[in-house]
Amino acid sequence: MSELSAGARARANIALAKYWGKADEALNLPAVPSVSITLDPLVTHTRVRFDASLAGDRFLLDGAPANAKELARVGALLDRVRAEAGLSQRAEVVSTNDFPTAAGLASSASGFCALSAAARAAAGLPFDLAVISAMARRASVSAARSAYGGYVELPLCEPSALAPDAHAAVPLCPPEHWPLRVVVAVTAEGRKKVGSTGGMIHTAATSPFYGAWVESSPELAAQVRAGIVARDLVRVGEAMEASTLAMHACAMAARPTVIYFQPPTLAVLAAVRALREEQGIAVYATADAGPHVKALCHADDAPRVAQTLGATEGVLRTLTAEPGPGVELEAEA
Ligand code: DP6
Repeated sequence: MSELSAGARARANIALAKYWGKADEALNLPAVPSVSITLDPLVTHTRVRFDASLAGDRFLLDGAPANAKELARVGALLDRVRAEAGLSQRAEVVSTNDFPTAAGLASSASGFCALSAAARAAAGLPFDLAVISAMARRASVSAARSAYGGYVELPLCEPSALAPDAHAAVPLCPPEHWPLRVVVAVTAEGRKKVGSTGGMIHTAATSPFYGAWVESSPELAAQVRAGIVARDLVRVGEAMEASTLAMHACAMAARPTVIYFQPPTLAVLAAVRALREEQGIAVYATADAGPHVKALCHADDAPRVAQTLGATEGVLRTLTAEPGPGVELEAEA
């Protein structure tokens, strides 16, 4: 059954304009537009093999069987592929991350995007980036953006859309358009984190600021998009910081609160501001559903930024990433 097997690789991405909140939970449609950079060298490799002798789907993540929750999410995507391709065989999914899961960047975006591409190819479905992106989005919204390389947007899905299930990311600019750097400051892990799905659903249900967040997000995404096209780091950076802090402020105002920041998070945010205000370096910070901080800067400034953030109290290590390509099929290893 070797023809029912395929592999793909996809990279992590970091949102410059943040997604936080769902317009439709069942269809997993975002309530706000988001804009991201697809990052090298943060790659997930995934192989999918449909096999009639398997009694159930299997999912190995970095060599270990995944837990029931992860397996259910993977199984739901596989079910959609099976329905579309007319297959009934269960599948074995083997996924490995080139970057440590503790790198401070979620592997779910690269993981679901690689899974979407590999499962479709294994089932004999044609390679179509928009379809791969929409299918990845259904599993995890941020994963839609990893389908494309460089700078990517996931727009709002208009309520009047005829096929909301086909809602996908769109490429904005290729990686070579603007070779920025993202310096990830990995901070000490504090308490167990609230996952992004649960965190945003709880925020939408209880934060008094959620309405303002949804209303103000499109303008921030437009600023980020225009700044990318014009290669204007000040414009992108200011809008990115505004988007980041609005998202976190909105989550912090939820009841009970959702706080992702830890003391080192604030120390790194202050260090980034000091680099900008005292050293004149164009560097801007963002943070997702965790305590780590990612700093956006020009390539020339990245070593200096990495050195400063690496020396900031509570930072375990830094990692420097750059714009990379979108999802690709992979030959058998
Ligand atoms: C803070 O894409 O993980 O990283 O759709 O529920 O799987 P689900 O959420 P997910 O949320 C990512 C949130 C974020 C911001 C972003 O990547 O845009």
